[in-house]
Amino acid sequence: MKRITTTQLRRKPRDGERIVMVTCYDATFARLVDEANVDVILIGDSLGMVVQGHENTLPVTLDEMIYHCRAVARGAQRAHLVGDLPFGSYQAGTEQLIQSAARLLKEGGVQSVKLEGGAEYADGIAKLVRAGIPVMGHLGLTPQSVHQMGGYRVQAKSQSAADKLLADAVALQEAGCFSLVLEGIPAPVAERVTAALEIPTIGIGAGVGCAGQVLVLYDLLGLDERFAPKFVKKYDNLHRRVVDAVSAYAAEVRSGAFPTEEHSHYTSH
Ligand code: KIV
Repeated sequence: MKRITTTQLRRKPRDGERIVMVTCYDATFARLVDEANVDVILIGDSLGMVVQGHENTLPVTLDEMIYHCRAVARGAQRAHLVGDLPFGSYQAGTEQLIQSAARLLKEGGVQSVKLEGGAEYADGIAKLVRAGIPVMGHLGLTPQSVHQMGGYRVQAKSQSAADKLLADAVALQEAGCFSLVLEGIPAPVAERVTAALEIPTIGIGAGVGCAGQVLVLYDLLGLDERFAPKFVKKYDNLHRRVVDAVSAYAAEVRSGAFPTEEHSHYTSH
């Protein structure tokens, strides 16, 4: 089966198609998400929160990202795979950026990388692209800067901040990014940026005007009943369904209703 390429993704908005992206972190879900026909799987550093249970994404290491990228690459055959560069794996300079990105492709088996930040990374991104590594940018609410932002707050609310975000988006496009995540910004700002760019924007909490959308898989499945921000739509309530299924199993083990003969092996003599 052929994987979706960055060229196909760039063409989608011109063909009137929206890009569907979802996060994923393991082989089993990767197989399901691939079967559901998504275009892009992001192995996001959000795994630090939803898989590892950290308060934010900062503790995630490059080795951990590679481990999860490999698992997803084994499960999904068709979707384009984007590996997230974690905090501390690219901020030290261009050499570190290139080495980390190359490891995600070589060892993690992804086809492109994503990093958070604006024009300050344009030179590094241009070098990555020249080295044959496709790059997805990420602007607006950038979770790796949670301490700088003072929490997970909607960004680019003032005119000057929106202008700066647009300038960053143009710089990332000129550096060679093939697409751009816009997270946690007012819908009209995302619409303006999308209209100004040739590369597709992929929104999360950025309204209806982007060229595509991304959600964290565990959020759209409703796996955490405590987490219900405005920008998430829960397409199921897996929290309830998982608790109910495991409770039913526990009750049957305790009552002796499971296993039955149907679930038992017998040797013939
Ligand atoms: O890490 C992640 O899951 C992300 C998406 C929310 C865009 O960066």
